[in-house]
Amino acid sequence: MFDRRPVLTTLLQAATAGRDLLDDTIRKLTPAAVTEIVLAEIGKVEHDVRLDLHFDGETTSHLQTAAELVITLSLADAVRGLYGTDERPWPSLAVRTPADEDTTDPRAWFGRRHGIGQAVDAVLSALKPAEADLGSLSVALGSDKWGDLHWYTQHYERHFARLRTEPVRLLEIGIGGYDDPDRGGGSLRMWQRYFRRGLVHGLDITPKTVTGPRITTIQGDQSDAEFLDRLGRELGPFDVIIDDGSHLNDHVQISFHALFPHVRPGGLYVVEDLQTAYWPRWGGHPSAADGTSMGMLKSFVDGLNQAEVRDPRGEGSYVERNISGISFHHNIAFVEKGLNAEEGGPEFLRTLF
Ligand SMILES: C[S@@+](CC[C@H](N)C(=O)[O-])C[C@H]1O[C@@H](n2cnc3c(N)ncnc32)[C@H](O)[C@@H]1O
Repeated sequence: MFDRRPVLTTLLQAATAGRDLLDDTIRKLTPAAVTEIVLAEIGKVEHDVRLDLHFDGETTSHLQTAAELVITLSLADAVRGLYGTDERPWPSLAVRTPADEDTTDPRAWFGRRHGIGQAVDAVLSALKPAEADLGSLSVALGSDKWGDLHWYTQHYERHFARLRTEPVRLLEIGIGGYDDPDRGGGSLRMWQRYFRRGLVHGLDITPKTVTGPRITTIQGDQSDAEFLDRLGRELGPFDVIIDDGSHLNDHVQISFHALFPHVRPGGLYVVEDLQTAYWPRWGGHPSAADGTSMGMLKSFVDGLNQAEVRDPRGEGSYVERNISGISFHHNIAFVEKGLNAEEGGPEFLRTLF
């Protein structure tokens, strides 16, 4: 199998461009590579149906190639359905149903027609999946971010809504399943579905076998700052980074400082399970003071106003200059990356009283 990332990165952007630009992009990437991506998104279809994709006068047949029920579509329309924003993305769609002369039993005839509808719908809804609520996706795809152990998806919905239809690049530390290579991946599948134009990367200390058309897994240790910096240079910049890994307080801080520079301006760095900041066995303290993950995040709140406590035109540290907002909810925080460069109040006002 070929590495889909470079082709996907270009295709995800081109899907919302004009038709000429998308056609040119498909030519450059090659119709075969683009077709492989489309078929990976459709996945397994349990119906007797053939899919014919055409581009530049060439047609290729897929799924059940001997089936009499045939869906025909241009390759460009398939891409626009998957990654574009059109309401009606398939002007080229045509369906040819199998000849069915047997009308001796009308009930059976209607039953067969219904089966045709289900088969066509299975393919088309894979080509343009309905937008689902993140909590339902979490439960359906096996993440514990809603209803299982945590109640996080309501907060994710609020902070991620503006990014949902963007071609985001996401990294989550902690794939799930701990030392079992075949377990985990619930949240990666959930993000892949939520961000239908997103490239989803998962990092875990255990090698993992999670697959998906837009999922990449990486093995590594979140307490290794040099490794994280290399990862950021190779696969970033990221629009979203989520730390749902070991939740040890020193790991959370090492990862933040190594990876925050690899978040794109306007992006978000999320830290989950902050309860461990209050638990001594996890490197926390009941006051969640300096040295804990919450201590680090609380210091960023003062960093937002750093210009008020030193030279009003002073620069401040990297995080002070690049955090533009922080939101705290129960056990989870969202750090917004953006320029924090406003000047502080003038010197005379500080000493007025
Ligand atoms: C809570 S699970 C992740 C759950 C997943 N994000 C979800 O919502 O479905 C935590 C994962 O972090 C991984 N982990 C633990 N220590 C780590 C480390 N030092 N570096 C990277 N991953 C680590 C574990 O192997 C485990 O699979």
